[in-house]
Amino acid sequence: MKITVVGAGAVGATVADNIARKELCTDLVLLDIKEGLTEGKSQDMMQTAALLGFDARITGSTNDYSKTAGSKVVVITSGIPRKPGMTREELIGTNAGIVKGVCENILKYSPDAIIVVISNPMDTMTYLSLNSTGLPKNRIIGMGGLLDSSRFKYQLSLRLNCNPTDLNAIVVGGHGDTTMIPLIRLATWNSVPVTKFLTAEQQQQIVNDTMVGGATLTKLIGTSAWYAPGAAGATLVEAIVRDEKKLISCCVALDGEYGQKDICMGVPVVIGKNGWEKIVDFGLNEEEQAAFNKSADAVRNMNNVLKTL
Ligand code: LAC
Repeated sequence: MKITVVGAGAVGATVADNIARKELCTDLVLLDIKEGLTEGKSQDMMQTAALLGFDARITGSTNDYSKTAGSKVVVITSGIPRKPGMTREELIGTNAGIVKGVCENILKYSPDAIIVVISNPMDTMTYLSLNSTGLPKNRIIGMGGLLDSSRFKYQLSLRLNCNPTDLNAIVVGGHGDTTMIPLIRLATWNSVPVTKFLTAEQQQQIVNDTMVGGATLTKLIGTSAWYAPGAAGATLVEAIVRDEKKLISCCVALDGEYGQKDICMGVPVVIGKNGWEKIVDFGLNEEEQAAFNKSADAVRNMNNVLKTL
C-alpha cells in the first residue's frame, strides 16, 4: 500500500517520518516542488530504517505526480507556514492556489485517495479541497482538531500533574487561535471530569493556553511547529489505514450537524478505512453551541475570501 505526503517542509517530513516508524505502508512518497528536497529527505529517512527497524520504502519526487500513483491516502501539507505574529488566516491567498493545484494533480493518479489536509488556514483549505474536487465528503479530512486536542491534553496534564495519555479531551470548532473550542466540561482524567480538580480560573487559563498553542510555538521557534502537527497527521493516517474506528476531532463537511451547513469544521468523527464515517453529536450546551456558531461565522468569512481570489 502506498501513502503520499505532499510538501516536504518540517510538517510534511515529520508526518512522513512518523508514518514510516509506525509502519503504516510499504511505499511512502514524499513530493515537493523544491528540486532535490524530497530526494534528500527521503534518503535521510531511509538511512534510519536499519536503526529504527521499519520496512517502508520511502522515495522522493520533485513535482512528478506519476510517482504518487495508486496512493490510498494523500496528506497535503503544501503552502507557506506562519511567521511570528501571523494568523493562520493570513496564509489564504498563497495557499489556496497551491492546495487546489495539488488536489487536481493527486486525483489524476490516485482517483480513490482519501485526502488529509494540514495546510493552513486548515478549515478553509479543507472546504476548498472538497468543493474543487467534488469528491465524496467522507474522503476529505482536515487535521486540526486532533492536534488541538493533543495540545489541550498537554495543558491539562501540566495543571493536573498527570500523564497526558490518561486524559480524554477534545477540541472542536475552527483551527484558529480565536475559533477553536476546547470542551473542558467534557474532559476527563481516567473518566473523572477534570473540572472536579480545577478552579474556574485554572480552567479558563488551560482553555486560553490551548487556543494559542500554535501561535506560542511560532513565536518561540520563528516558524510554525512540526512535531505535534506531524504526529497528529500520522495518527490520523493510522486510524484510516488500520480501519481503527477511532473517535477523533477532525475538520469535515457539515450538513446540519452541530447546527451548521456548507462549511468544514472540527467535530468528533469516527475514522476508518473509508475516511470519516460518522459525526458524533456530543450534545453541546448553550454556551458551547454559541461558541461553535461564532466559530462557524469566522470560518465562513474566511471561506468567502476564496471567492475573491
Ligand atoms: C499549528 C499549525 C500546523 O497549529 O496549524 O501548529
